[in-house]
Amino acid sequence: MTRKIIIDTDPGQDDAVAILLALASPELDLLGITCVAGNVPLALTSRNARIVCELAGRTEVPVYPGCDRPMSRDLRTAEHVHGGTGLDGVELWEPQMPLQDTHAVDFLIETLRREAPGTVTLCPMGPLTNIGTAFTRAPDIVEKVQEIVLMGGAYFEVGNITPAAEFNIYVDPEAAEIVFKSGRPITVLPLDASHKALTTAEHVQGFRTMGTRVGDAVAGWTDFFERFDKEKYASPGAPLHDPLVIAWLLKPDLFSGRQVNVEIETLSDLTRGMTVADWWGVTDRPKNAFFVGDVDAAGFFALLTERIGRL
Ligand code: RIB
Ligand code: CA
Repeated sequence: MTRKIIIDTDPGQDDAVAILLALASPELDLLGITCVAGNVPLALTSRNARIVCELAGRTEVPVYPGCDRPMSRDLRTAEHVHGGTGLDGVELWEPQMPLQDTHAVDFLIETLRREAPGTVTLCPMGPLTNIGTAFTRAPDIVEKVQEIVLMGGAYFEVGNITPAAEFNIYVDPEAAEIVFKSGRPITVLPLDASHKALTTAEHVQGFRTMGTRVGDAVAGWTDFFERFDKEKYASPGAPLHDPLVIAWLLKPDLFSGRQVNVEIETLSDLTRGMTVADWWGVTDRPKNAFFVGDVDAAGFFALLTERIGRL
């Protein structure tokens, strides 16, 4: 029984690897890719998503352009991490496959209204603007969502774009608040997990020695991504954030975490976008999210390498 998913994304090298992992996994039925402004502006994220589909030879996957800025704030991008194209590290091309005419928010609404209730999993791995907008415009779709498995947030690991906040949540905290208050089952893959899944030079080499176009691209992207984060964290490799969302769907036993209350800071400039996780249960606020704290990094990279090797 395959699981129907929608990937909502702002490619980004790590998003690209996540999309490839999903495309290589027959357990997942990818209904569509919805693009959002985040790492780079929307014109580039919706270009990059199509480049990834063409790289995998999967141009039948529909790619939808979404929101080009957060619900109520100015856009903040991260070219300093991902490069000017958002996919630096690989010689890119202009994609030939079409971008869908339907807006990503309309695709989300139409799909959730069409599919049987509780059969579609949303996999956001960028700012939550498209999801927050869809839930606001069509509240009837919220209860139809099977579950939300997202990359975002941080607690013990603290922030990466500010001392308090992780980038995806920071860019659109209002959208994140809508999602975290939606009442649907949410699994959060935060920096607390991704910072334990570091892409070392050996992993990059493993992709490169595949001798495939996809392996070469993943090696190029992870190598580029690694350079920035190694400098910043003085770590032996870069955290590979977004593929953890897909790995969770494929092998949840690789992860551990806790069902806790998570609320989003939207008022303070100092802590805007912070995911305030009540890890020790000191409040009686609803335990609305499964917050992943740890990952078996070796198991994750073994899964990722095996699946990427299939493309
Ligand atoms: O903070 C990491 C997240 O922000 C990842 O999803 C990365 O792609 C960027 O979107
Ligand atoms: Ca992302």
